[in-house]
Amino acid sequence: MVNDAAAPREQWGSRIGLILAMAGNAVGLGNFLRFPRQAVENGGGTFMIPYFIAFILVGIPLMWVEWGVGRHGGMRGEGSTPGMFEALWKNPLAKYLGVCGLFMPVIVLIYYSFIESETLAWTFFSMIGSTQGLDQEGMRGFLDSYQDPLNGGVHAAWVPIAFFLVTIAVNFWVVSKGLVAGIERLAKFAMPLLFLFAVILVVRVLTLPAHEVVEAGVTTSYSPWDGLNFMYTPDWGALAQPKVWLAATGQIFFTLSVGMGTLQAYASYLTKRDDIALSGIATAATNEAAEVVLGGSLAIPAVVTFFGVTGAVAIAKAGNFDLAFIAMPLVFNQLPGGATIAGLAGLMWFGLLFFAGITSSVAMATPALGFVEENFGWSRKKGAIVLGILAALLGLLHVLYNTRGFLDEWDYWAGTFGLVILALLETVLFVWVFGPENMWRELHDGATIRIPRFFKFVLTYVTPVFLLVMLVWWTVQEAIPILLLHDKPESEHMVRWASRAVMLVILCGQLYLIKLAWARRAARQEVG
Ligand code: ALA
Repeated sequence: MVNDAAAPREQWGSRIGLILAMAGNAVGLGNFLRFPRQAVENGGGTFMIPYFIAFILVGIPLMWVEWGVGRHGGMRGEGSTPGMFEALWKNPLAKYLGVCGLFMPVIVLIYYSFIESETLAWTFFSMIGSTQGLDQEGMRGFLDSYQDPLNGGVHAAWVPIAFFLVTIAVNFWVVSKGLVAGIERLAKFAMPLLFLFAVILVVRVLTLPAHEVVEAGVTTSYSPWDGLNFMYTPDWGALAQPKVWLAATGQIFFTLSVGMGTLQAYASYLTKRDDIALSGIATAATNEAAEVVLGGSLAIPAVVTFFGVTGAVAIAKAGNFDLAFIAMPLVFNQLPGGATIAGLAGLMWFGLLFFAGITSSVAMATPALGFVEENFGWSRKKGAIVLGILAALLGLLHVLYNTRGFLDEWDYWAGTFGLVILALLETVLFVWVFGPENMWRELHDGATIRIPRFFKFVLTYVTPVFLLVMLVWWTVQEAIPILLLHDKPESEHMVRWASRAVMLVILCGQLYLIKLAWARRAARQEVG
């Protein structure tokens, strides 16, 4: 069914703006927080083998698939996957399968904004020196009280709530301005600053002098290079563990934002003349440089220098946030130069995390905004206000119940498992239903480069099979035990089930909106 209600669509203002916005979409908290932790927990250097295999066999191909699916749909007035899938497959089921590309970004947006709000809070705390002079226990108390507002402590409950609401407001203010004046302008400002802060911090970290660390009674001298060495020393045994492959593939998905519905939404504002072959690979390469070169050279080398290898592993394993919010401020407090340098380093570290986060979260808001705009005739401003209020209300559940497993559930089902489902669906539709020749032609329309033919074979056979195998493997290895709450304390069960119930309500609501939207389209066509 054609979307004849769609108003003329906005287009990207410039190629550099598009690349920065797409790179901003991909480069996020995953590059600087998730990647080092995943690498440390999954075999160090060995992790990089499945990581790069997944990058080549699914990361790069999916980047092209999503740019292709997005532009193809966008040219037919579709800014989200329900309509995009129907543009590829004329089947009543297609639009419902496309719900994945509305569900995943909305769910990830909500919990991601909570983490993003924490980076904003710590930017502020660094500026006013709140974490200076705190030891490890002090830092932990500072973080725990922020993350568990129902339990009291250093922070009053309104503090995390206020930072969260400000973060949501800034996100939706940016998207309400539209593509060029909002998202593109943000990317042009935030991306260069993010890279500048990251490069300054990497230089500072890698030039740190060696430190003596006492581990189990033995004193060892650690330099940042020992941190790099530790991160990249292969543990070949890890290659035989399925969990390492799942973690590496999951990281590729999350870091590139593939399977999230956001790249397709951004690509829907492209035209036939735009180059997706080169821009797609440029986005993937920028993200990898930010992740492996910058993300890999910051937290782990810094923390190993001051805490040793054993200490760094213990910190990384203690919790998702410990490396960034406990260990890094402790490192900054010990930098030569005193309070000013500690404050400045904190400002750059948390500032870069905030910029990385917000350039990704505005992308997550885009598919749902496009959907209501194109199907219900809402203005971008109205969409931003309504979605912003909903995200704020639902996000408060994360602010309040994050430590009881609420966030974990959303992160797993939408931010890990769900990504593979959307990726598999779109690959099958774009490559097999639309047809390999059509797919190849779509990728080359407007292109200034030819994609090596090797990738046609990969896209046609290897990527779908890889995704299918991963999905089955993931289901058996992780999803079923997680669903059954194996290893989860009794005390968390209720919150975890409640968290799933909220997700289910959102999913059903979105399916209903799709049904409503298509009924309206049918009615319009009858009148027409
Ligand atoms: N790709 C985004 C990140 O890495 C979602 O955080």
